Amino acid sequence: MNHDQEEILKLKEEKNAIILAHNYQTAKIQEIADFLGDSLELCIKASQIEDADLVVFCGVDFMAETAAILNPSKKILIPDPQAECPMAHMLPAEEVRRYKERYPDAAVVLYVNTMAEAKAEADILCTSANAVQVVESLDEDQILFGPDMNLAWFVQQQTNKEIIPMPVKGYCYVHKMFNSADITFSRDNYPDAEVLVHPECDAEVQELADHVLSTGGMIRHVATSPEKNFLIGTEVDMVTRLRRENPDKIIYPLLDEAICENMKLHTLKKVKNSLIEEKFQVTVPKEISDKARSAVERMLEVS
Ligand code: 13P
Ligand code: SF4
Repeated sequence: MNHDQEEILKLKEEKNAIILAHNYQTAKIQEIADFLGDSLELCIKASQIEDADLVVFCGVDFMAETAAILNPSKKILIPDPQAECPMAHMLPAEEVRRYKERYPDAAVVLYVNTMAEAKAEADILCTSANAVQVVESLDEDQILFGPDMNLAWFVQQQTNKEIIPMPVKGYCYVHKMFNSADITFSRDNYPDAEVLVHPECDAEVQELADHVLSTGGMIRHVATSPEKNFLIGTEVDMVTRLRRENPDKIIYPLLDEAICENMKLHTLKKVKNSLIEEKFQVTVPKEISDKARSAVERMLEVS
């Protein structure tokens, strides 16, 4: 532990705070987190916080907002308020309303990577870990699904329901970096490695992979697989966690450049400052929060 990390641990105790962090955080932040996980695991954890007075969320805006939606009476802090997920801003609430008018019989399933106002328009949310399960749990056969078009494609491969992506081309700039040549090139160099990719990758990349998994799914798969070598097609710091937890396995990133700059805005200094000054607080207006909460809770019920 370095000096900043030790100070953060002390502050955490003094303030009765917990730190939740997404799998894409840097090694130093992963090391001081009380809980590290994918979007679904972080939602579940956020729904179970009882005794902490402060929650420091090392993730992007929509994740901290979801924690605030689930904990209206707690102080949820984000160390850098600029840590936004660009994809979560590709589907504003008014666009969801326009789609609902065009498809009045469709159910609205929104990826958790959306902002609270859009979430308030959803029937149910999903993450990359439970999207198929969520869609299959619904009575409707027509599903408005957004904003990630690649996750929409992934779900469409596994359901007979009609998935209507909204907007037509929502995407994650990090997972867009992967292409089929990255897989064919890596397979030539590492013929024994299993290729795991995230469902935010393009369809051509998903088709060439051995498994398409959420980040939490990758953690479970690598830990339990009899295979020894893995190529990881998602943000590079997933490799950091996988290597730490599986020292007997050989884990390579599929693409070194796949860095989510937004997630990386959080640093130890900013986490420390967040605890000292109790900022930056993430809040959601009550009427939006109340509507969005039912969509989040409905997802948690089927997960
Ligand atoms: P996971 O829920 O799989 O961790 O994905 C979150 C995310 O933002 C992927 O880019
Ligand atoms: Fe958003 Fe993509 Fe970063 Fe995930 S990796 S937080 S989807 S920009």
